[in-house]
Parts: sequence; structure tokens; C-alpha cells
Amino acid sequence: MARTALVTGASSGIGAATARQLARSGVHVLLHGRNEDRLAALAKETGGTALAADLANPGAAAELAERALAITGSVDLLVNNAGLGWAGPLPELSAERLRHLVAVNLTAPLDLTRALLPAMLERDRGQIVFVSSIAGRTGVAGEAVYAAAKSGVDAFADSLRFELHGTGVTVGIVVPGVVRTEFFERRGRPYTRGTPRPVSAERVAAAVLRAAAHPGDYYVPRWLRVPVALRGAAPGLYRALAARFGAES
Ligand SMILES: NC(=O)c1ccc[n+]([C@@H]2O[C@H](COP(=O)([O-])OP(=O)(O)OC[C@H]3O[C@@H](n4cnc5c(N)ncnc54)[C@H](OP(=O)(O)O)[C@@H]3O)[C@@H](O)[C@H]2O)c1
Repeated sequence: MARTALVTGASSGIGAATARQLARSGVHVLLHGRNEDRLAALAKETGGTALAADLANPGAAAELAERALAITGSVDLLVNNAGLGWAGPLPELSAERLRHLVAVNLTAPLDLTRALLPAMLERDRGQIVFVSSIAGRTGVAGEAVYAAAKSGVDAFADSLRFELHGTGVTVGIVVPGVVRTEFFERRGRPYTRGTPRPVSAERVAAAVLRAAAHPGDYYVPRWLRVPVALRGAAPGLYRALAARFGAES
């Protein structure tokens, strides 16, 4: 079990739920986010340490890694969770917003992992968990950039798994569908579909802890692996069904 963990995006939703569950297991949690009031309240509640940083800024992830190591000496578990969405037709997405989405959802977790990995490899011990999204595995209308960024996170995590095989550092991936958090309000389009039914942030957090202890891919809910498998085995059929039943979220 990890003794220290860095959870990005711990100021809200899945990250906050993950931080609480880790703290209950006795882990000292470094709580990252931007909202300093929320981080301070969570630090008080969990006994963790607040570390504010805007991951859209170049160099912020590497600096966050340095601060984390300076505080705890080692980060046993890194949970790459911070992220945000944007929904709408691609031509309505500004170039600046596009860069922001890629910076926070894709570049930051890659940078942070790169910065913390050497210390993990030196101790031959470490756990890295990525919070990806079903959007990155199936594609979603109106969320092409978000889906591409999450797909990139998936490919990075999978590749790193191969690279780290035989070392003491493990990689887990959590693939949520729809989760009841502020995500949808923030992305600018509420979630109105009936399926997949929204799950709680606590349920996704439990999958994050499982992915740390027993590395693998964890879909939440589990049945989401079915459309992904269908898309892999019969992409034409998948596209026809998605077009018929809607590929928007
Ligand atoms: N909710 C869903 O249905 C769903 C589904 C699949 C995947 N996910 C993924 O799950 C992860 C967590 O999302 P959530 O649902 O818990 O949403 P959330 O409640 O909106 O939380 C997002 C977290 O990311 C942080 N964040 C956003 N932009 C940031 C930036 N520029 N710099 C640093 N931190 C930033 C936020 O920090 P502040 O609030 O302090 O700014 C917040 O802590 C994301 O990666 C999301 O893509 C969510």
C-alpha cells in the first residue's frame, strides 16, 4: 500500500472522492487543484497537504512534481485525474480553448508522470493511475478534442505499461462513463441522456484505488467494456449502432 499519493484535480468530484478514500486507508495525500479554499478544507478534513497549480501553464506539472517530492520525499502513488471537457461543434471551439483542453487533459499528465517516474524507478516502487474516459475509447460527437486527448492518455498509459514491465512501477487505467460531478456544468452542456446512467464519484474513486493495488483497466460501470469490444471487433457495426442510438453525451 502506498504511504504517499499525489492526486491531481482533488478539489472536486472524482479527485476529492479518491483523496478521501486514500486518506481513510492511512495514505498521506498531496491534494492538487486550483481552488485553494476547497483544497484547504479538504486538507483539514483528510490531514493531507494542499498543492495549488494551474496545469494549463507550461512547466506547471514539472514544478508540481518538484514541490510534491520536496514535501514527502517520495510519491508512491500518482493519480492523474485533473481534467475538463468541452462540448459543441468543432468550428465553435476557439484555438485557445483547444490548446487549453489538450494542455490540461493530455500534456499535463504526461509531464507529471515523466517528472515523477525517475524517483519511482530509483526505488523500484511506484503506482501510476490515469483517469481516462469512455470518450477516448469510443469517440463522442461534439467532444472530438476531449476524446482525442483522453485517447492520447490511454495510448501513453498502455505504452508505459510495456516499458515498465519487469520494474516495480505499475500503471492502471480507470475508464469512467458518466459521473455525477461538476464536469458537465463546467463543460457547458448538461448530461441529458438516460444511458449510461450517471454513477457516483465515490464508485470511480474505489476503482482508482483498485487500479493502484491491482493494475489493469477498470471500466465504471463495468458493462462499458462491451461497446469498446464491439468497436474493436466490428467497427462498421459499432458505427452504425452509434449513429442510430446517438454518439453524443
Ligand atoms: N464526470 C464525468 O462524467 C467523467 C467521465 C469520464 C472521465 N472523467 C474525467 O474524470 C476526471 C475528473 O473529473 P470530474 O468528473 O471529477 O470533474 P470536476 O468535478 O469538474 O473536477 C475536475 C478537477 O480537475 C481540476 N482542473 C481542471 N482544470 C484544471 C487546471 N487547468 N489546472 C489544474 N486543475 C484543473 C479541477 O480543479 P479546480 O476545480 O480547482 O479548478 C477539479 O479538481 C477528469 O479527467 C475527467 O475528464 C469525468
